[in-house]
Amino acid sequence: MRDKIVILTGAGISAESGLGTFRDVDGLWTKYDLNEVATPGGFARNPALVHDFYNARRANCRGAAPNPAHAALARLQRHWDGDVVIVTQNVDDLHERGGANDVIHMHGELGQGLCAACGHRWPAPDEMFPDDACPRCGVPATRPDIVWFGEIPYFMDEILLHLGGAGVFAAIGTSGEVYPAAGFVELAARAGAHTVELNLEPSSVVSAFAETRFGKASETVPAWVGALLDE
Ligand code: NAD
Ligand code: APR
Repeated sequence: MRDKIVILTGAGISAESGLGTFRDVDGLWTKYDLNEVATPGGFARNPALVHDFYNARRANCRGAAPNPAHAALARLQRHWDGDVVIVTQNVDDLHERGGANDVIHMHGELGQGLCAACGHRWPAPDEMFPDDACPRCGVPATRPDIVWFGEIPYFMDEILLHLGGAGVFAAIGTSGEVYPAAGFVELAARAGAHTVELNLEPSSVVSAFAETRFGKASETVPAWVGALLDE
């Protein structure tokens, strides 16, 4: 049985599929005020604006296709003689549409609605609106199932367990600007994992990685997977 491989992905892996990143030159946070569309306070102040923001991202996602980086990670899951765990900060479903299994969405999913009153989750419709009633409790307290700034990411206990047992940790297309995800490399390295960063450019936590592979994810990820499988 080969080492467990834990992979963290960020917006950069979906960039070549046409989905925007957050902090690049034309990133989402250069066009929108994240305090208005990605915080609980913003949602309380103007739920219609927040639903519009995620309705637009949901439409973009429907029009996007997985790229060779998503396909390469699915290939690694199929052919690696060991566990391959994908933890994503992304809320799109391109990993799944690219063939990956059991993806851990630590920041939630565009494709799900959440009831703030009863906690019910259901497949989100194409568009959500402030007065949508929860399918289970009927209260009009529905929100996108997205983890906003100030909220705790999902599945952290499971993620920390995976990091503690990783033989290889890779971060793909993430700026290393947001915690706790940006701290995963330190935890994996402390557990003895070989760490590799795959990005267009050095992230804020590049110094914590043993290996770096710079370039576009659609090129660097297939090359990295090929090297792992041909070893
Ligand atoms: P944050 O992610 O910027 O900060 C998280 C915490 O890490 C804060 O307590 C901060 O003080 C700490 N931190 C920041 N830099 C650090 C460093 N260099 N060393 C150690 N600690 C550091 O903001 P947040 O409000 O905590 O966000 C919580 C979660 O919500 C994050 O995981 C974030 O990615 C997520 N989120 C999701 C979306 C979305 O649209 N899906 C949008 C925003 C935030
Ligand atoms: N190939 C590889 N990396 C790329 C590509 C590409 N084609 N295009 C962009 N990148 C890299 C950028 O260099 C940058 O390091 O992707 C990263 C994108 O960083 P961010 O925009 O900060 O996105 P991310 O790291 O996913 O943000 C983390 O912050 O706002 C919150 O919850 C939100 O999940 C998001 C979190």
